[in-house]
Amino acid sequence: MKKNPKVSVIMSEYNTPVEKLDLLSKFDIQQVFQQNEIDAVLHFAASKSVNESVKNPLKYYKNNISSMVNLLEVMKDFNVKKFIFSSSAAVYGSTAQQPISELVDTQAMNPYGQTKVIGEDFLNDLYISDNEWSIAVLRYFNPIGAHESGLLGEQPNGTPNNLMPLITQVASKKRRLLYVFGNDYNTIDGTGVRDYIHVVDLAKGHVSAVQKLFSTHGLHTYNLGTGEGYSVLEIINTFEKVNNVDIAYKIVDRRAGDPPICFANPTKAKEELGWSAERTLEDMCRDSWQWEKTLENIILPN
Ligand code: UD1
Repeated sequence: MKKNPKVSVIMSEYNTPVEKLDLLSKFDIQQVFQQNEIDAVLHFAASKSVNESVKNPLKYYKNNISSMVNLLEVMKDFNVKKFIFSSSAAVYGSTAQQPISELVDTQAMNPYGQTKVIGEDFLNDLYISDNEWSIAVLRYFNPIGAHESGLLGEQPNGTPNNLMPLITQVASKKRRLLYVFGNDYNTIDGTGVRDYIHVVDLAKGHVSAVQKLFSTHGLHTYNLGTGEGYSVLEIINTFEKVNNVDIAYKIVDRRAGDPPICFANPTKAKEELGWSAERTLEDMCRDSWQWEKTLENIILPN
């Protein structure tokens, strides 16, 4: 096993300073704002496991909400009023309206989703109190994949809950079987349907949103999804075909709280941001597998 020197090469190539801090420490945030010239904030830091949030809601309210209050307070003090918020399709809960537009009412079904609804509400109130703020709320659907170089991706903590990291771990024999949660939904093959989006497309959506913030004020909410739904079996089959590997799986009971179908209407992002997802499901499967192979050879810094 060796360290991954290439990740730090990427950071230095783009001359990106990195500070590691806890957003629960307002003092630490103030230091960063004092030492850097900041025009806008893209706020990604949060916990994101639905299961864990049900077992330990206080952790989620602290990590996802208290930290955000600290950050917004410091931003206000430093007169930095451009903000991008990582929200989630989890704010929609289980809605029958598919594809889902931003006009569908929010109705989170678990503490994780609730923290995203509350975050959105905070931002709404903040904007009403001071309309010099320029805010984009980005509701992510199901991000998968990794940077096509194979050098950047996610490293799940412990056992993953999400489908794609589990598929890649079965492919790499870290895990024996994938459990498919239910094949009796009213979908193309009975398994759950989601709107999977390549993480690089998602990142590009943020670039478009930042550009928007610099040209207008206001609070804007956008779905970031492809507008296409794929079933669990379609994901498995595509992954096997693109990467020439086998995924052993077993159908088990439905997972509690899973909606049968969830996919975006991404029209608003296209019209107002000029953004739409370009990468295919094949790209997502190829890049996820490439990243899993990178993970086998590196120790990432904590
Ligand atoms: C989940 C969260 C969502 C959150 C997102 C963050 C739930 C109910 N929703 O979305 O709020 O924003 O992660 O990334 O947890 N599946 C299997 N076997 C598995 C894992 C998943 O069959 O071992 C199926 C699920 O039933 C679902 C699909 O794969 O149909 C996608 O699941 P997952 O990757 O966990 O995402 P979501 O549940 O859509």
